[in-house]
Amino acid sequence: MRLLYLAISALFSGLTEGQQTSLHKHSPSVQTLPPLREQAALINGWVAKRKKLIPEILRRYDAEAWLISMLESGEDPVFWILKSAEQFSARRRTMYLFLADGSDDKPFEYSWIDNTPQVWTDLANVIEERNITKLVANIDPKVAFSSGLHYGEGREILTNLNNTIESDVPWSERLINMPGVAISFIALQMDDRLPWYRKLQETAWAIIQEAFSEKVIKPGVTTTTDVEWWMRDKLQSLNFTTWFQPDVSVLNSGDYAPGDPDLPERVITYGDVLHVDFGVTAMGMNTDTQHLGYVLRPGEAEEDIPLGLMEGLRKGNRLQDIVRENMLPDRKGNEILKAAREQMTAEGIEGKIYCHGVGDFGHSGGAAIGMTNLQEFVPGLGEAHLGQRTWHSVELFVEHFVPELGETLNFPLEEDVAWDKETETFEWVYGRQEKFHFVHPAVDQLPLNTEDL
Ligand SMILES: *[C@@H]1O[C@H](CO)[C@@H](O)[C@H](O)[C@H]1NC(C)=O
Ligand SMILES: *[C@@H]1O[C@H](CO)[C@@H](O)[C@H](O)[C@H]1NC(C)=O
Ligand SMILES: *[C@@H]1O[C@H](CO)[C@@H](O)[C@H](O)[C@H]1NC(C)=O
Repeated sequence: MRLLYLAISALFSGLTEGQQTSLHKHSPSVQTLPPLREQAALINGWVAKRKKLIPEILRRYDAEAWLISMLESGEDPVFWILKSAEQFSARRRTMYLFLADGSDDKPFEYSWIDNTPQVWTDLANVIEERNITKLVANIDPKVAFSSGLHYGEGREILTNLNNTIESDVPWSERLINMPGVAISFIALQMDDRLPWYRKLQETAWAIIQEAFSEKVIKPGVTTTTDVEWWMRDKLQSLNFTTWFQPDVSVLNSGDYAPGDPDLPERVITYGDVLHVDFGVTAMGMNTDTQHLGYVLRPGEAEEDIPLGLMEGLRKGNRLQDIVRENMLPDRKGNEILKAAREQMTAEGIEGKIYCHGVGDFGHSGGAAIGMTNLQEFVPGLGEAHLGQRTWHSVELFVEHFVPELGETLNFPLEEDVAWDKETETFEWVYGRQEKFHFVHPAVDQLPLNTEDL
């Protein structure tokens, strides 16, 4: 084991400054959100621009038209991307129809909010006037983003189109499944949003940095659950929210399993290796970040952190690079997974890769690259292409033997990347962790008893 450790140390000690990614020289700080009315103006501008991408998406899939229909409280996932900042749910029957071709006198977008049969007449009129023979509907059996048409609503559409439009071909053959349409619409991002997405990321980093510090953690007193709720309250005080309960764990307690929602509450103590999975939500965007921290013992300085922990983090950084370098836009998620796994094996790295789209949903539309329980092939989103102009979360862990602790730990890391049209690669939105967060021992506070040491 010792020899193996030395060999691995040698392998990773070559990776130093040259590969350090640091977009920011300063420490991350919490970003202030504009007043709600200003946020709404920004969001509505983004929605309007985003809708204009739809004809291009439909043409790419050789589709004529896309129908999205729902009743209030039965929202299609696509609704949350289409809605204005002043809408909080669909109303009555909310129906959108998008066409691949539009011009000044022939719009590419129609929408109705109605609870009378008039909506069927209106829809039929457009279908006949624009000579639409097939409608893409969100009826995919595998991908939620492309299956938002409720079963009852789908039957209602078929009955009413059958009854309203005379045709030889029944509408049951004309509603077609083309999952790439909704996935692409949800995954495609615009440059305008990126500066704000970066601010959200910086805020996530700033909150993690404060959470994993002596300001929040008193060794021997504070529990992992205390830190989680501190993070929730902090978000609320800043007018942000989140899309999942923050997850704080102690890696050297043996508790951690990726995706395990039921970690026990633990009192944090000296020498603990901390892990957090944390997301920030604001202005229709969500982030997803996992970082590591270390609780210094009294008398221990930052440079005294066990070398094995530094090596584990560096190995995690190496796997992040491997994944990011394999994220070529014309590849499918499963192709990236295969290539990255081959490379990690060749480099002697053990671990798991489970990346996903991020942005409008925390786990958003876009190619999936592995899942915690699927390291060979992911059905559904694993078969989606990565694409340009998308955002993803690079989520993974490496296993690394830490000789100072005498055990192998998982080092889970997660950072979000965005397509960069200048470099034509996926770049870290804010950066990636290359240094532990430290909880420093209080100068004036000695531990209560020597066992704490
Ligand atoms: C309507 O579309 C069909 C097939 O897309 C085409 O054969 C037909 O000529 C079109 N009719 C009109 C009036 O444009
Ligand atoms: C629509 O019409 C076709 C035949 O034209 C029929 O097979 C189908 O059941 C009808 N669907 C509904 C929901 O009425
Ligand atoms: C949160 O929003 C309120 C107004 O609703 C505002 O007064 C306050 O300054 C905001 N806080 C921060 C930290 O932006």
